[in-house]
Amino acid sequence: MNKKIALTGIKPTGDPHIGNYFGAIKPALQLAEQYETRYFIADYHALNQTRDPEVLREQIYEIAAAWLACGLDPEHNLIYKQSAVPQTFELSTILLAFTPKGLMNRAHAYKAMVQSNTEQNRDPDDGVNMGLFTYPVLMSADILLFDADVVPVGSDQQQHIEMATDIAEVINRNYNKEVLKVPQGLIHKDTGIIIGLDGRKMSKSYNNTIPIFLPEKKLRKLIMKIVTNSQTIEEPKDPDKCNIFSLFKLFADQQQQNEMRKRYLAGGLGWGHAKQALFEIINETITPFREEYNRLMADKGHIDAILEKGSAQARELAEQKLVMLRKEVGVL
Ligand code: ADP
Ligand code: TRP
Repeated sequence: MNKKIALTGIKPTGDPHIGNYFGAIKPALQLAEQYETRYFIADYHALNQTRDPEVLREQIYEIAAAWLACGLDPEHNLIYKQSAVPQTFELSTILLAFTPKGLMNRAHAYKAMVQSNTEQNRDPDDGVNMGLFTYPVLMSADILLFDADVVPVGSDQQQHIEMATDIAEVINRNYNKEVLKVPQGLIHKDTGIIIGLDGRKMSKSYNNTIPIFLPEKKLRKLIMKIVTNSQTIEEPKDPDKCNIFSLFKLFADQQQQNEMRKRYLAGGLGWGHAKQALFEIINETITPFREEYNRLMADKGHIDAILEKGSAQARELAEQKLVMLRKEVGVL
């Protein structure tokens, strides 16, 4: 029997962080044991934000190295660059023809910009480019091109996956058959939203991230910046209302969690102690990843070779799908 297909992409828009790791990378790597994988670097998505070619080029390497350092095995898991699979953009054109503008008007990222413009008495579309407006269509093309069954992502991407589903269903109805596989999002309840340094969702846009591969000293400094309340050392503390503990839980096994929980409840644990414990457990977990990441980043030729091989395979799969689609829509 053919294996099911898991697909996900990450935009190269800045240092990969712990939210990306637990929301997308780790679940994707866990699926890699049972699914066929299509994991990629969503570089043309990043062009909406990153206009400096040197920066974009470097960030593409960073995301590729992140996938590999966290355990993606390129011999068994397909990894590629979105831009190296031009069929994506042909499919995107097909999808655009079937996508109601009203669907795009409802997309969270676009709506948020319109709202903030309106609040500040600016033209509603100020600063909105068509790449941002049609972002969900390009993302749908990424997904539908490869017949993805499941798409592991953080919960902020749920709406985009639902749009991909909607668009696929419209097209299938038009041609009266399953031309495009209808995908499913895979969002874990515990790791759908990882909290950042300031208590909001961890995101590059909020500048509150813990990058995965920070050098040890910088990592410690950053963790010491986590926002806490003014409880004294002696006071017992509620672990379930604490950012530090919510991050600690991600890295700790059950026994370590139970012990830390007891220390919180007993009193005598200051925020500085809790942060130190968090630093130690993160540092211990990521040290091997960081070493591998640094090794990879020092050998970009090796990353190029892996991406070129993966992208060539991805193009072959994509071309088969496009031949079928071109016939189906009637241009061939
Ligand atoms: P950012 O919001 O920092 O720009 P991206 O949009 O590049 O991150 O996200 C890449 C992947 O990581 C997506 O699947 C996204 O859902 C996931 N992700 C990002 N931030 C978080 C978070 N705080 N918690 C869980 N998953 C996240
Ligand atoms: N939009 C996703 C993000 O902002 C990245 C992405 C692009 C993606 N194409 C995708 C994720 C396809 C899953 C599947 O994080």
